[in-house]
Amino acid sequence: MQRTLVKDAHNSTEPRDSILLQGWVRTRRDSKTFSFVELNDGSCLKGMQIIVQNTLPDYEALMHKAGTGASISVGGKLVASQGAGQKWEVQADTFEIIGEADASYPLQKKGHTLEFLREIAHLRPRSNLFGAVFRVRSRLAYAIHQFFQERGYFYVHTPIITASDCEGAGEMFRVSTLDTDKPPRAEDGSVDFASDFFARQSFLTVSGQLEAETFACALSNVYTFGPTFRAENSNTSRHAAEFWMIEPESAFLDLFGNMDLAESFVKYLVADVREHCAADLEFFGKFVDKELNARLDFVLQRPFQRCSYTEAIEILEKSGRKWEHPVKWGDNMQSEHERFLAEEHFKCPVTVYDYPKTLKPFYMRVNDDGKTVRAMDVLVPGIGEIIGGSQREERLDVLRENMAAHGLAEKDYWWYLDLRKYGTVPHSGFGMGFERMLMFVTGVANIRDVIPFARTPGSADF
Ligand code: 4AD
Ligand code: MG
Repeated sequence: MQRTLVKDAHNSTEPRDSILLQGWVRTRRDSKTFSFVELNDGSCLKGMQIIVQNTLPDYEALMHKAGTGASISVGGKLVASQGAGQKWEVQADTFEIIGEADASYPLQKKGHTLEFLREIAHLRPRSNLFGAVFRVRSRLAYAIHQFFQERGYFYVHTPIITASDCEGAGEMFRVSTLDTDKPPRAEDGSVDFASDFFARQSFLTVSGQLEAETFACALSNVYTFGPTFRAENSNTSRHAAEFWMIEPESAFLDLFGNMDLAESFVKYLVADVREHCAADLEFFGKFVDKELNARLDFVLQRPFQRCSYTEAIEILEKSGRKWEHPVKWGDNMQSEHERFLAEEHFKCPVTVYDYPKTLKPFYMRVNDDGKTVRAMDVLVPGIGEIIGGSQREERLDVLRENMAAHGLAEKDYWWYLDLRKYGTVPHSGFGMGFERMLMFVTGVANIRDVIPFARTPGSADF
């Protein structure tokens, strides 16, 4: 007989004479003549209530083994439930233990701290919270592809190993090979690295943007969606060393068109997740962030605000706030400033644009004032920056000047310069941090809790 997922069983429109469910025991309650077993298979938040009568052969021995965490296979009838909490329940005809859970199983009914659950990243997807987070993560990834594919964008796979530091922030992980002539580990535990595998020093990518630009200048509209790496040792709740980024790149699009695309993108993702992950979002609204659903509704209803960096600095200066990091024109905004703008001043997502040239990488288009560049950051309540992007410098001579000012050698970027030599076009793009978007739609406050296996400084056990 074919297995039915709990989600599909809950959505059944009529009772069924026979059904097979397989999953893990979440809880068990015994009464005199029967037991309630909650079976969860991860297909949805809500487990299925199984009723096991004590007349079932080996009833006592089976229930003894059916503790929290044990894997089971249950055949029976899907019947209307008498209880208030669910529409359907299953009357077991057969009940098989596939694998018992040792008494040391850490996910017993009592609540656990997020810190503790991070230490058992291999088991935490079995909890309600993490099951919900990772279902939403999967849906969000799907919706991202859907959004771009519906708009005629092509999905491009940019390299993970690269020689170019797109952001110029020196936060790259170096890639090298082990020295195969020596034992992999010396007696003192040190590791010898041989020369670089590729002709030039190579690194893990911080962004697929530069390579995506080459494809936008051929296929017009493209996007990347893949892992990116940053060796920034910032131990914050919104930075990870390995995270996923979505980067659209559009030919013949200016900065304002890019802002429109970013706004529709964020709204599309919020609407999609609200529609397809309703039960999980309700759970987050109850147990993680009470304001979540009202905030997401609000995001859908209102246009995002826009203000230039210069206006943003004026707002911050006039706010009368005591900042931990006082800010003036020419400074990078810190998270406290970004959150103030989105949460308290505009009270909704805001796109800040035209940043000082000195704060941004070499590839951004220089404005006529010579001081600012066509950059944009989308800031959202609760998190701050979720998107960073720009219109790219398409003028060969200006790009060369910018590269010289950033100390970049033209020979290292000859292919990037070629895009400006052969049929250059105005073009724009942005990068959205996938995990930051996930934090935004779930209300989960720490980036470590939206990544299956977080790579933050000092954590790579798995
Ligand atoms: O603002 P960033 O650094 O922009 C770029 O990398 C551009 N090349 C993107 C482009 O224009 N194609 O990064 C983009 C986004 C940020 O807004 C943030 O959401 C996320 O990536 N991000 C991080 N997320 C988690 N951990 C980190 N260490 C992150 N660094 C950036
Ligand atoms: Mg940025």
